[in-house]
Amino acid sequence: MRVKAFEIYRYDPDTDDSPRLDTFEVDLDDCGPMVLDALIWIKNNVDSTLAFRRSCREGICGSCAMTMDGTNWLACTRFISDLATPATVYPLANMRIIKDLVPDLTHVFAQYAMIEPWLQTRTPEPERERPQSPEERSRLDGYYECILCFCCTSGCPSHWWNGDRFLGPAALLQAYRWLADSRDEATGERLDILEDPFRLYRCHTILNCTRTCPKGLNPGKAIAEIKKMVLERRT
Ligand code: SF4
Ligand code: SF4
Ligand code: FES
Repeated sequence: MRVKAFEIYRYDPDTDDSPRLDTFEVDLDDCGPMVLDALIWIKNNVDSTLAFRRSCREGICGSCAMTMDGTNWLACTRFISDLATPATVYPLANMRIIKDLVPDLTHVFAQYAMIEPWLQTRTPEPERERPQSPEERSRLDGYYECILCFCCTSGCPSHWWNGDRFLGPAALLQAYRWLADSRDEATGERLDILEDPFRLYRCHTILNCTRTCPKGLNPGKAIAEIKKMVLERRT
């Protein structure tokens, strides 16, 4: 009795066909409440060739990021009932597409690697762990929760135009996560990597990133904090 139409982007690299939209009718009485449930239903019942990524189905792994009704979000945490009819489902924008809803994340993960996302220390190893006070630990709140879904980077207009050199909001939020860590001792080197007219300063505070983060994080604020640190070390 309850049927909903989904218009889904299709692209098959093994044919010469142009990308197209396919319309699928989903039986909502036989399907879970999330967009990911609908995609799985389509794959199981209508077209087993539909390609998409998913793993945790609870907003932890970041792999099911896509564009639904024009907004980047996780398919596993987006209610079908929040979408128009027909609902539109596209892969993340501004990425090379491997197949259907699967974007190629090679470039954005290379940008992530550039910020050296691990703890770096210079002082000798202590006998036990490097302690943090509760206050120092709380400075990581709002940053450590990032699941690298790249909804923000895909939605950032500056990254559309300068994605080859601007690191984008996901990598920059992660960069600040390490700058904010009281145990890390590579602040100077980290800021050297970031202080560049493109890598950091192509952010124009448009804040699309903050609006689209499915974890409720604020990459725009993290970028502003990095700019402040760069300025402070100059004075
Ligand atoms: S605030 Fe900066 S990083 Fe975020 S969307 Fe705007 S330009 Fe991109
Ligand atoms: S900041 Fe948010 S939108 Fe960006 S990668 Fe992390 S979790 Fe995803
Ligand atoms: S399946 Fe892991 S975040 Fe959606």
